[in-house]
Amino acid sequence: MAERPQAHQAGRLAWYSKSSLPPLAPHDILSPAEHEEYSAMSSGARREEFLQGRWALKRLLSAALETAAGGAEPELRQIVIPRLSSGALGPLRHPDGHALYPSVSHSRNYLAAACSRYPLGVDIEQTRPVDCLSVARRFFTASEVVQLEALKTDFERMRAFLQIWTLKEAFVKCEQSALARVLGRVGFQPGQQEQGRVLFRLVLPQDAGTGKAYEAFCCWPASDVCVGLVQAGIWPIHL
Ligand SMILES: CC(C)(COP(=O)(O)OP(=O)(O)OC[C@H]1O[C@@H](n2cnc3c(N)ncnc32)[C@H](O)[C@@H]1OP(=O)(O)O)[C@@H](O)C(=O)NCCC(=O)NCCS
Repeated sequence: MAERPQAHQAGRLAWYSKSSLPPLAPHDILSPAEHEEYSAMSSGARREEFLQGRWALKRLLSAALETAAGGAEPELRQIVIPRLSSGALGPLRHPDGHALYPSVSHSRNYLAAACSRYPLGVDIEQTRPVDCLSVARRFFTASEVVQLEALKTDFERMRAFLQIWTLKEAFVKCEQSALARVLGRVGFQPGQQEQGRVLFRLVLPQDAGTGKAYEAFCCWPASDVCVGLVQAGIWPIHL
């Protein structure tokens, strides 16, 4: 019988407005390897982004790890998030034996972080003026372009565009770029709205043949920011 997850085992998704974050000290947050990566960054803005992302991720991971460690939340700097050679993040090992997959995303004043037992990707995008239809005609599937063309206002089109865009970026992170070659043929079809999120059905080309069950959803933490999440597995994600 399939394992029935308990509430504390659920995956987690969190987002932040960067202007509301507390002051962050690298030595409280980063592991030695992350500190090395941080120190080698030449741009101050990139260093700040990296630090904020690791802080957000490790808060989620610390809470997820605590449930197994008998109540003791590990210190953030003790949590080591593997960095793979592709640039993607690798999974951590939970003391219970299962994997914990992290993902992080930045967009101007916003930041999103997520972790779960299944590989996942998160992407956050702040709204900006963009010619949705011409970008969509380049990167989206024919059916997604039709969805956008059918919308009546630029506002509706921008929202629908950002939902699909964040899902495609999230899919690339979830698959660690492995399926980037078929990205133009990976489709997302909007379904029902549930608990503040819009659920999507993922349509993969036959030759991608991953044989996995994916979950995908978008939400709008504020009117100017969209978050897309794709998970390669069926497991609850708490916002
Ligand atoms: C890798 C990629 C997904 C990163 O997304 P982004 O919007 O540039 O940046 P984000 O802030 O959202 O995400 C950055 C995080 O992605 C992760 N990442 C970096 N390279 C990655 C890779 N090759 N695979 C998976 N995740 C990766 C990292 O965790 C990084 O944050 P960190 O360096 O602070 O740890 C993106 O650059 C990319 O290649 N996208 C696919 C290209 C494309 O065709 N897009 C069109 C969609 S329609």
